[in-house]
Amino acid sequence: MLPRPGVPSAVEELTLDPPAAGEIRVRMLASGVCHSDLHVRDGEWQRPGPVVMGHEGAGVVEALGPGVDAATTGLEPGRLVALAWVVPCGACRSCRAGRSWECPDSPSFRHGRDAAGRTRARRADGTDVLAYLSIGTMADAQVVPAAAAIPMPAGTPPAVAALIGCCVATGVGAVTKTAAVPAGASVAVIGLGGVGLSAVMGARLVDAGRIVAVDRVAAKLDLAAELGATDLVLAGPDPVVTADAIRTATDGGPDFAVEAIGRPATVELALEVLPVGGTAVLVGMTPQGERAGFDVYRFVDGGRRIVGSNYGSAVAAVDFPRYAALHLEGRLPVERLIDRRIGLDDVEGAFDRLRRGEGLRSIVTF
Ligand code: APR
Ligand code: ZN
Repeated sequence: MLPRPGVPSAVEELTLDPPAAGEIRVRMLASGVCHSDLHVRDGEWQRPGPVVMGHEGAGVVEALGPGVDAATTGLEPGRLVALAWVVPCGACRSCRAGRSWECPDSPSFRHGRDAAGRTRARRADGTDVLAYLSIGTMADAQVVPAAAAIPMPAGTPPAVAALIGCCVATGVGAVTKTAAVPAGASVAVIGLGGVGLSAVMGARLVDAGRIVAVDRVAAKLDLAAELGATDLVLAGPDPVVTADAIRTATDGGPDFAVEAIGRPATVELALEVLPVGGTAVLVGMTPQGERAGFDVYRFVDGGRRIVGSNYGSAVAAVDFPRYAALHLEGRLPVERLIDRRIGLDDVEGAFDRLRRGEGLRSIVTF
């Protein structure tokens, strides 16, 4: 539980109300530790507190609130579900246009408060505790909107289902859905965390020509190669050298440059390496308020493009089971992103490793 952004999280015993209408209780099995949790932990994004963090989780259905029909939703008790961190409002301009992943009015952004402002979790003294993105997956159990719980195919490992809920949907979808990279195109992926490595897997899925993996940590490059990267670039302190190496691997620049870190310098690198007609796909999220710059004349003259990709343009109910099926067919080796299973009491340690760019995904198990 995070008392507020910018301070350490701690394990705390909370009470949890039963699910209300349209909600279910989930017994959590796995929760990934994503860099977006770290942005909040470090106070780089303004979010309310106190809040149960975690937005990359999976568990089993434990209880249904009034009006949730197991037969029509597939949410029978015991069923494995992956949790989505955007439940579309269904009414805004984006939802009406069929782009629910960009819904700005999602009830998920109330972080666990219902329409009347009540939370389901609270401290012993009775104060409200929020659930990050209304799923707060770093908890043994959580009450979530039924629409956030996506039934997964039998045999999906819970940790894989958890990662499908954020980094896999975000990275695979950025390449295959948002950018719709065609077969044979060249792709550079800058930053090889859970999101960037998922983008490498997505580039492999669509049969990209060259797949250039870029990171400042050598061990990340080795794994990227195993996941399908054809060229590896170790980013040193000089971005000019890095840009040259990316251009050399891609006959003058990648058709698509995916930024999966969220730093102005690497956003500028993604824009800088584009050839004429190339597209930068911005996936990494910076601290709020950061800006990046580029050479406007050159950008426009060369017909280049910038695309922001949020949640990999995911429609959770359709895409999560599809990604799980691809995993079960051996075409999306999501388990390779996991290098450590931890208890809730080591979340701060996992944040530390993320800050240093060290290791892969830590998975909290319960
Ligand atoms: N140059 C190259 N690689 C870098 C640099 C840099 N200057 N800085 C960081 N990296 C690498 C790290 O070594 C790490 O492998 O970027 C990777 C970032 O991975 P994670 O911290 O695991 O982040 P992830 O969870 O994948 O999220 C990436 O996407 O959704 C957003 O908020 C999220 O901004 C975050 C981004
Ligand atoms: Zn995430």
